[in-house]
Amino acid sequence: MLAYRHAFHAGNPADVLKHLVLVQVLRHMAAKDKPYSLIDTHAGAGGYSLEGRYAQKKGEFEAGIGRLYDRDDLPAPLTDYVALVREFNGGGSLEQYPGSPAFANLLLRADDRLRVYELHPTDERILRAFLGDRPNTEVILGDGFEALPRQMPPPSRRGVVLIDPSYEMKSDYARVLTAVRETLARFASAVVLVWVPQLRTLESQQLPQRLQNSAKGAPRGWLHARLTTAEPDARGYGLLGSSMFVVNPPHGLHETLQGVLPFLVETLGQFDGANFLLEQQAA
Ligand SMILES: C[S@@+](CC[C@H](N)C(=O)[O-])C[C@H]1O[C@@H](n2cnc3c(N)ncnc32)[C@H](O)[C@@H]1O
Repeated sequence: MLAYRHAFHAGNPADVLKHLVLVQVLRHMAAKDKPYSLIDTHAGAGGYSLEGRYAQKKGEFEAGIGRLYDRDDLPAPLTDYVALVREFNGGGSLEQYPGSPAFANLLLRADDRLRVYELHPTDERILRAFLGDRPNTEVILGDGFEALPRQMPPPSRRGVVLIDPSYEMKSDYARVLTAVRETLARFASAVVLVWVPQLRTLESQQLPQRLQNSAKGAPRGWLHARLTTAEPDARGYGLLGSSMFVVNPPHGLHETLQGVLPFLVETLGQFDGANFLLEQQAA
């Protein structure tokens, strides 16, 4: 239980897709003056050293942010995402990678509300120290799945939810679906972002379709973006890629991703069959 530490994976291709989409959604939310809430149900430590022994063990970031950080020919949405990573590094070379709470910290305005849940006590302590006394922020050592429905609807009636489990336990797949259904039952216009691993398991392969069923009735429909960068290992295992499933996607997200995903396939792909899928259903 809770053997997963995101520090091993920080900045890998899956984080690039996840945080690119998160940044796009938070930029969209900030286009209106009215404050909004962000709930991050599986927050991690907030930031990760890429020079530490965890990140160095497999060097996953080298196949992700490492391939983008120093390029000057990125499409605009990637320039924006990389600029935030650069800001997290104090403008210098790539030594640290921001987790989702750090992107939130860079993009939320003072009156936007941030609630982050983390179950691992070590990561929660680091996260609490990192967010410090940011206004309108609560760091909770606890189960984000369980707490989420009680937070709906958010006080401002504008809300984004990021559900980013480790899928360390098979039950995470079912809990994601329950969380999405319960969130939408209480607050139909929530923008819900779910990260989905692309593995050769039935649970992983079926999750996007099941999420589509759970999102039926969302007033602005759903969007599914998948980026496949790697081949399975000799035993047929390994992370092939990942998806972001977005319920009630902001206007323009499809077009933005349509413009960026081919570049990511070309830049982050590790085999000839690297590819992307982008599908959307308006309500
Ligand atoms: C993939 S990581 C999160 C990464 C983070 N969202 C980011 O983008 O930087 C998943 C995290 O969820 C934590 N976790 C696992 N089960 C949880 C639960 N039920 N509630 C809250 N946190 C949980 C793990 O300890 C881990 O730190």
